[in-house]
Amino acid sequence: MKNIAILGFGTVGSGVAKVLTENRAEVAAGAGEEVCLKYIVDVRDFPDSPFAPLLVKDFALVEQDPEVSVVVETIGGCGVALDFTRRALKAGKHAVTSNKQLVAEHGVELLALAKGKGVNYFFEASVGGGIPLLRPLFNDLSANKILSMKGILNGTTNYILTAMDRSGMELEAALKEAQRLGYAELNPDSDLDGTDAVRKTCILADLAWGRELKPERVSVEGIRNVALKDIRNASAAGGSIKLLCRLLRGEDGLCYAWVAPHFVPAESMLSGVNEAFNALIITGNMVGDTMFYGAGAGSLPTASAVVGDVIDAVRHASSPRGIGWTGEDLPLGDPEELSSRWYIRNGDTWSLTDALPAAKVPAAEAKYRVLD
Ligand SMILES: NC(=O)c1ccc[n+]([C@@H]2O[C@H](COP(=O)([O-])OP(=O)(O)OC[C@H]3O[C@@H](n4cnc5c(N)ncnc54)[C@H](OP(=O)(O)O)[C@@H]3O)[C@@H](O)[C@H]2O)c1
Repeated sequence: MKNIAILGFGTVGSGVAKVLTENRAEVAAGAGEEVCLKYIVDVRDFPDSPFAPLLVKDFALVEQDPEVSVVVETIGGCGVALDFTRRALKAGKHAVTSNKQLVAEHGVELLALAKGKGVNYFFEASVGGGIPLLRPLFNDLSANKILSMKGILNGTTNYILTAMDRSGMELEAALKEAQRLGYAELNPDSDLDGTDAVRKTCILADLAWGRELKPERVSVEGIRNVALKDIRNASAAGGSIKLLCRLLRGEDGLCYAWVAPHFVPAESMLSGVNEAFNALIITGNMVGDTMFYGAGAGSLPTASAVVGDVIDAVRHASSPRGIGWTGEDLPLGDPEELSSRWYIRNGDTWSLTDALPAAKVPAAEAKYRVLD
């Protein structure tokens, strides 16, 4: 039997407790032994929760308990989450997280720490929530040179853009609806500004190309300037506006990484990805295009990926997987130099350009790269 602890009993952490409990038999079958939830660490009390007896406030209890083999960090951010993860790994415990900010900003350090201690550090849920993306990329596609990845990895903005299209709302109204339905947080900045999508883009690049892509190196444009008339024009032109994460490996050996709203033609497999769903197309030089689709967030979908990592950590407890990348900077080209067609808007005129680099696009009130 292996004991585990959850740090942070919020949306994801409470889902992890539920999956471990309701699917106890499946988890045990996958792990090859029972997986028992011993502690939940949170700053708040949850007196009405069936898990109340497991709640503690002091992480040191987990850190110092030799019976705890796996720690699940679902607090978020890079404050205590970083401190607790470092301490858990240093104490020789496997660590699993859904925290993309922590992995994107501190992955090199934490993976090296895990390697030095002979334990696993897994983060499948950090990109695409419940969709299996990172393990297929790292395992099943490892015979390939990864040529490109493109996808919708932020469910909040995808929900907002879909709502604008379907209900004819401007962005502010669609954001309010998303907040009311729980698809957007009260502070939606990291979603609207593309920061969340950038962190996921970095983790994909790190894993695919083995060197570090720091978030501040990714060029980013969020969705704040997407107007309802752009959505309407895109629809009339047979497509839609979607916030895409883009990664390309050029023949020059340089990688290109950016996040921006794009015009997605109806024939693209990404055009049918609506509401809060996520999808990613990974193109390898041998396999061609592969597409992954599903729930990119939410308590149980995200917990499904987290618990999958817990199972893998237990299975590989004595022979950790060598997942990782170096701290060397990934060589990057400037995506602005990549030519593509663009839809541009000036006043009420919406037109399509020839293939041009960004600097050659005529001045416009709004411009959207066409996904080709
Ligand atoms: N929600 C999703 O669908 C989703 C999907 C994929 C990935 N993620 C990622 O998963 C992580 C967790 O997200 P979430 O939505 O579950 O967040 P959340 O609902 O805010 O849960 C975080 C929990 O940690 C608690 N906490 C804060 N400081 C703590 C401390 N010092 N010690 C112990 N517990 C502490 C919080 O308490 P308070 O509420 O009192 O602060 C809260 O209960 C984030 O990195 C997020 O980006 C989330």
